[in-house]
Amino acid sequence: MWTPLLTVVCLSLCACQEDESLIVKGGSAIVGGKIQLDCWSKAPQNTVRILTWQNQAKQVLFFNNKTVTQDSRFKLVSWQSHRSIISIQKLKAEDHGNYTCIDYKSQPPLIRSASVNVWVPPSQPVVSGPEKPIRENESMELLCTSKPGRPAATIYWINDERQLRNETTHVYMNGMVGSSVRILVDRRDDGRHATCVVNHITGVLRTNWTLLVEYPPELEISKVDGSSEGEELKYECRAKGRPRPSPPRWFRDDKSFSNFSTMSNYLVLSNLSMSNTGLYVCISRNGLGETRATLNVSASDFPRVVETTSEVSTPSYKWPLVAGALIIFLIILIVISIATNHYLKTRKGVGTQRGR
Ligand SMILES: *[C@@H]1O[C@H](CO)[C@@H](O)[C@H](O)[C@H]1NC(C)=O
Ligand SMILES: *[C@@H]1O[C@H](CO)[C@@H](O)[C@H](O)[C@H]1NC(C)=O
Ligand SMILES: *[C@@H]1O[C@H](CO)[C@@H](O)[C@H](O)[C@H]1NC(C)=O
Ligand SMILES: *[C@@H]1O[C@H](CO)[C@@H](O)[C@H](O)[C@H]1NC(C)=O
Ligand SMILES: *[C@@H]1O[C@H](CO)[C@@H](O)[C@H](O)[C@H]1NC(C)=O
Ligand SMILES: *[C@@H]1O[C@H](CO)[C@@H](O)[C@H](O)[C@H]1NC(C)=O
Ligand SMILES: *[C@@H]1O[C@H](CO)[C@@H](O)[C@H](O)[C@H]1NC(C)=O
Ligand SMILES: *[C@@H]1O[C@H](CO)[C@@H](O)[C@H](O)[C@H]1NC(C)=O
Repeated sequence: MWTPLLTVVCLSLCACQEDESLIVKGGSAIVGGKIQLDCWSKAPQNTVRILTWQNQAKQVLFFNNKTVTQDSRFKLVSWQSHRSIISIQKLKAEDHGNYTCIDYKSQPPLIRSASVNVWVPPSQPVVSGPEKPIRENESMELLCTSKPGRPAATIYWINDERQLRNETTHVYMNGMVGSSVRILVDRRDDGRHATCVVNHITGVLRTNWTLLVEYPPELEISKVDGSSEGEELKYECRAKGRPRPSPPRWFRDDKSFSNFSTMSNYLVLSNLSMSNTGLYVCISRNGLGETRATLNVSASDFPRVVETTSEVSTPSYKWPLVAGALIIFLIILIVISIATNHYLKTRKGVGTQRGR
């Protein structure tokens, strides 16, 4: 029944002169927004047209300047004998579709459709994943689901602002979409976020998932600067890991060194001497194992030690020293007197030779 009519419309379109044509303009807006539809005839302005608007369900909304629809969201913005502008306010998702403007004055009637795009934002993505932390070098699967809205949003996973490639997209019966991703984690990932991104024309939505990765303690030994007191060396041992590692402790020759430190993860070596050189071990453990870090303290590590250790010991008995000093004094005196004597003699000799 429609085919012959469409054929007739098509034939009349092809046959009509350009000034007989009907032009429509639709629009796009987000749910709750407003849209304006325009329909005008290019026929000479003095020829009165009969312009009607139908919605996507073919219900008449406006007939010329007469509002037919009961829905107050539809308004006739302006009407002239050859032009009709209508608006739809407080857009609903179901307003979406092709609206038609029909010019019944043409023979056969001219029918044009204007698209009304009602954008529906996606829902905030929901992320699910393992409930407990997983071990390093194992992979975990994360799933992100969202109602994709209209037009359908794209959904993907990112990590450090880079899109994760290893993902699959699922479409569910109830119109939801999901994206699952498998991530192989290492200790560097602990505490980082994997983010599910839903990218839509109306905006971007993100939901984070914090990666919790278990690994044995990782130790870091650092020299504490600013031991301005001089003859002291201070090292700090810090532990990272999951589950939370035991506080790191210092050992030397399997003996606890907590003795020498005020805070247990500090190794404080004071009164430095060569006996302090050697190997010190920092140890921390958690459920995944025990980690040892070795520190080699060598003489070159302690700055002002050399002077203190090579200090000259003061003499314990004084008489030999006094006697020695006296003897040296006497020897110097004798040497000086001999030298003076000799000098005077030679001068005298020189003087007599000149006098001659
Ligand atoms: C529609 O237009 C006719 C004349 O063209 C006028 O008489 C009538 O009052 C108008 N109706 C409305 C609702 O504007
Ligand atoms: C509107 O019409 C165009 C073609 O004219 C079609 O591609 C599109 O799917 C229609 N839109 C709807 C929502 O029916
Ligand atoms: C994970 O793999 C790295 C590199 O192969 C290795 O160094 C590390 O010990 C592994 N971690 C665990 C908990 O097995
Ligand atoms: C995902 O990555 C793992 C290794 O990380 C690989 O074995 C697997 O084939 C990948 N899957 C896809 C779909 O690329
Ligand atoms: C989500 O993760 C990113 C990347 O780590 C971070 O920049 C952002 O602040 C996080 N957002 C929230 C709400 O935690
Ligand atoms: C300090 O350590 C020494 C052995 O290095 C030990 O004999 C002594 O009892 C310890 N003192 C304290 C207070 O722990
Ligand atoms: C360091 O030497 C001073 C005196 O020279 C002494 O009082 C102090 O107890 C010594 N400290 C240690 C840790 O041996
Ligand atoms: C510790 O360091 C000293 C000096 O750098 C070196 O001679 C010695 O071999 C080191 N000891 C070990 C066990 O590495």
